[in-house]
Amino acid sequence: MNMKWIALFSVILNTIGGHAQTPPTLVPFKFQPLPLGSIKPQGWLLDQMQLMADGLAGHEHDFYRFVSDSSWLGGKAEYSKLNEGFPYWFNGIVPLAYGLDNDRLKDQVESAINKVLDLQADDGWLGPEKGNARNFWARYPLLLGMIQLVEADGEKYGKRVLSALHKFVDLQNSMLKNDYEGYLLKEGDVLSEEDHGWGRVRVADMMITLQWLLEHDPAGQETELWENLDYLRKGQIDWAEWYTEGVYIKEDLSMVNESIVKPLFPYEHGVNVGQGLKAGAVINRFTHNDSLIEMSRRAVDWTFKYHGAASGTVLADERLKGLGPYYGAELCTTVEAMYSLSYLYQTFGDSSFADRVELAAFNALPVALTPDWWAHQYVTQPNQPYAKELNDPNPFWNVNRWGVTYGLEPNFPCCTVNHPQGYPKFLSASFVKVGDNGLAHVLLSPGIVTTKLSSGNVKVSCITNYPFTSSFTYKITASAPFEFHIRIPSWGFNTATLSLNNAKTASSLSPNPQTGLHTLSLPSGSITFSMTLSPTIRIEHRANDSISIFSGPILYALSPVSHTTTTTPKPWRKEDNPNNFPTPIPPQSKDYEITPLTPWNIAIDPTTLSYHNDLQKGEELENPIWAPGKPPNWIEGWGCEIEWPLYKGVPGPVPQKSGRECTGRKKRVRLVPYGSAKIHMSELPTIELKGGEE
Ligand SMILES: *[C@@H]1O[C@H](CO)[C@@H](O)[C@H](O)[C@H]1NC(C)=O
Ligand SMILES: *[C@@H]1O[C@H](CO)[C@@H](O)[C@H](O)[C@H]1NC(C)=O
Ligand SMILES: *[C@@H]1O[C@H](CO)[C@@H](O)[C@H](O)[C@H]1NC(C)=O
Repeated sequence: MNMKWIALFSVILNTIGGHAQTPPTLVPFKFQPLPLGSIKPQGWLLDQMQLMADGLAGHEHDFYRFVSDSSWLGGKAEYSKLNEGFPYWFNGIVPLAYGLDNDRLKDQVESAINKVLDLQADDGWLGPEKGNARNFWARYPLLLGMIQLVEADGEKYGKRVLSALHKFVDLQNSMLKNDYEGYLLKEGDVLSEEDHGWGRVRVADMMITLQWLLEHDPAGQETELWENLDYLRKGQIDWAEWYTEGVYIKEDLSMVNESIVKPLFPYEHGVNVGQGLKAGAVINRFTHNDSLIEMSRRAVDWTFKYHGAASGTVLADERLKGLGPYYGAELCTTVEAMYSLSYLYQTFGDSSFADRVELAAFNALPVALTPDWWAHQYVTQPNQPYAKELNDPNPFWNVNRWGVTYGLEPNFPCCTVNHPQGYPKFLSASFVKVGDNGLAHVLLSPGIVTTKLSSGNVKVSCITNYPFTSSFTYKITASAPFEFHIRIPSWGFNTATLSLNNAKTASSLSPNPQTGLHTLSLPSGSITFSMTLSPTIRIEHRANDSISIFSGPILYALSPVSHTTTTTPKPWRKEDNPNNFPTPIPPQSKDYEITPLTPWNIAIDPTTLSYHNDLQKGEELENPIWAPGKPPNWIEGWGCEIEWPLYKGVPGPVPQKSGRECTGRKKRVRLVPYGSAKIHMSELPTIELKGGEE
């Protein structure tokens, strides 16, 4: 056949296949996210976000070299050749600024985006790289920040930001058509194959922006947007290969031959895992390949079953580990996993994904920050009775001796710039639209949402001290009838009750078994009602006959009495001069070491546990709440000290059950919310303590 005939033949085939007539479509979200800015925090969540604004997150633009002197703004400070510091910060500061409606932060956003757009290259490239130094990856968080900004203030930014995005999409299209330039390794590239790997394994974050453009502002660029999605998928490092029986490593990675572990590194990198949990859902939206739905569920199940911490995060001290309570979980992995799990709830609607977001938001995230949000850990250990400089060798795969201390940049600086997205994106995902005329509260927390549904305008205010207590008051005003839904966490399924207009009798709820949503058809006008959950103490069995103890979504941990010392911040690279930060560091930015003054080697009798909460009705929570001694709730039981050998300078595996013996008197043990316990033991050995009091 000559070329003309081949061309004609494929037109006919395409027409028969339906491609010529039916434009491709994206699988709709099960629950639609609301535009940034629709939801505002209240209560403790407002306090936390305000602390973030007043803390490190809200001041990096002024002094933190990898933001203030970033190559994205014409400066020169980068912590790696990937140039990702500024984009990570931007992706978090936009939802913080607009979630809070904070003018100072909005000014930072404005000055930053204006500079980035002023520096956009003539060919459409965003960022400082030129020619064969270009690599798509660091654009992904920047673009996620840009689409949030358009949602939050389209009037001010829509025109300029969208036109920059379209110019970039155009360029990306021609780069991808030029042998995957900027994506796959090409001859003459300044970067290595490994450097390009970050973009290929994290590509779901890029696809979200392309899909957002298709849905919000295709601007005649549909063909290119679909082509880009397709090229990016073809060139990706495919998570479906990893989440396959026989490939996925369920064992502790340190027990597996490096010749197997090493080639799979992109799938084992902690932050990649956090980001990649949503990949199946994102790719399913445009490929309609339903095998990716099961793959996504498997991804979450296996990640947490074989590499998860009780606090809701993933144990990976740079690379996945196993279940040892002395391994570390990276703060950036936590915030990325939270974002991915919220996305999975929005696409598939399985309530368990939302349960996991709450778990991480109320435990793994706050524990890794000082109460004032000026300092953070790089990694948190489930059993971490001290946050101090560790020995060499330490128990981590690739984290320095300072990794568990709190500071400005205790290890690699990625978490300094990436942690700010945690609570702001949690807030943005806390309410979703259900169909045309429904609204759901899905990540339970104090917040207020104002939005438009098909029948009219709705305002919902949820006042609650949850997760520190478990009652909720909803005040709702609607201009027309609508459906309101509340997601009941799985542990509360059988005990949730509701009293409409504060009626004396409460009725029990009937949440949908898949989504967890209980549905109420509400009339127009104003209505107030309250909901109560009744958590009980729950035990999760962990490795080596240890337990983690929960009530509701809160993990409770032993927290020794502590002693804290501070110093001025150390630069993450030892060779950097500590007095040589280019801009003065604000006095609030400090490095912390915390050591215990009371024993940590405690076993507990789980039959003796009782729950307590001393918050009086109408009393407000403390602020900051995630600080030692501040949450009003605790669990108490009987325990005793046991022998517990160290491993590489930290508490080793939980001692075998058969050898556990009290080495001292039995005593009352108090367990407190993990997020407030900066030093803690959360995987506790059990012991049977017979009869009698102390
Ligand atoms: C669907 O995705 C899986 C996982 O990537 C892949 O193996 C399979 O070939 C895909 N199916 C189709 C029809 O493309
Ligand atoms: C690891 O696997 C390689 C390649 O199969 C083999 O040569 C080596 O002996 C193995 N190492 C161990 C410790 O088993
Ligand atoms: C359980 O204990 C054994 C023996 O001390 C130890 O080798 C193993 O690593 C422990 N497992 C975990 C997950 O801590």
